[in-house]
Amino acid sequence: MAVRHVIIIGPPGSGKGTQAMRVADKLDLKHLSTGDLLREAVSEGTELGKKAEEYMKAGLLVPDEIMLGLIREQLDVLEGGGWMLDGFPRTLPQAETLAELLAGKDLAIDMVLLIDVESEEIVGRLTSRRVCGDCKAVYNLSMLPDGDESVCEKCGGKLVTRPDDREETVRRRLKVYEEQTAPVLDFYRKLRGVTEVTGSGDIDEITAEIIRGRR
Ligand code: AP5
Ligand code: MG
Repeated sequence: MAVRHVIIIGPPGSGKGTQAMRVADKLDLKHLSTGDLLREAVSEGTELGKKAEEYMKAGLLVPDEIMLGLIREQLDVLEGGGWMLDGFPRTLPQAETLAELLAGKDLAIDMVLLIDVESEEIVGRLTSRRVCGDCKAVYNLSMLPDGDESVCEKCGGKLVTRPDDREETVRRRLKVYEEQTAPVLDFYRKLRGVTEVTGSGDIDEITAEIIRGRR
């Protein structure tokens, strides 16, 4: 069966962005990260960015009404093609509203993918993450050649540290995930099942496992 509509869920730093970029490329899907869209809005200083910035910096979720407005717009843009949603839905009301929006368009979710990683590994990964300010490619200091920590290998853009990757903020994001996003997994387990992969280990092997496990 062709997999056209995928949701990728996991704690902060589990590798959602890393894997979504690769899997979307292989399966010819559009990768839509709500975190990337919000960061772009913050850097452009739009109304959305102004509303979202304080929540993001604090490691808290942006309120549902703002996120639902954003996803309504994006689903219109994405209509007709396959997509991979990274970072949405993150609360039960977001999951319920997405189900209604998709039913209204006669669309179904083909795969809900959970990438899981243990908390202490996440803290280590996020405090050493760097992201390309231009193409959004994700790196870790451990992957970058010595002395070249500032330039994107793919596009030559400048690598930056996300403001929410300070240890204290990462720990808050992990708590928010447990409290507000873990219930979304139970929602999907009851509705259609969840495909689970371990997000620790070789990045290529995790991508291959996701591709093999699609249903
Ligand atoms: P968002 O941008 O979605 O952040 P997140 O969920 O906290 O997840 P991250 O992007 O930090 O991690 P990731 O899982 O993508 O991992 P990555 O691939 O980068 O959201 C940010 C904020 O926006 C939220 O806190 C909230 O305020 C707001 N927001 C967004 N969506 C929202 C919504 N729907 N509702 C409300 N608010 C919302 O990898 C992490 C690091 O690990 C990298 O350095 C990478 O190189 C490394 N790595 C990846 N895989 C491996 C591996 N296998 N082994 C070793 N290292 C690895
Ligand atoms: Mg991400």
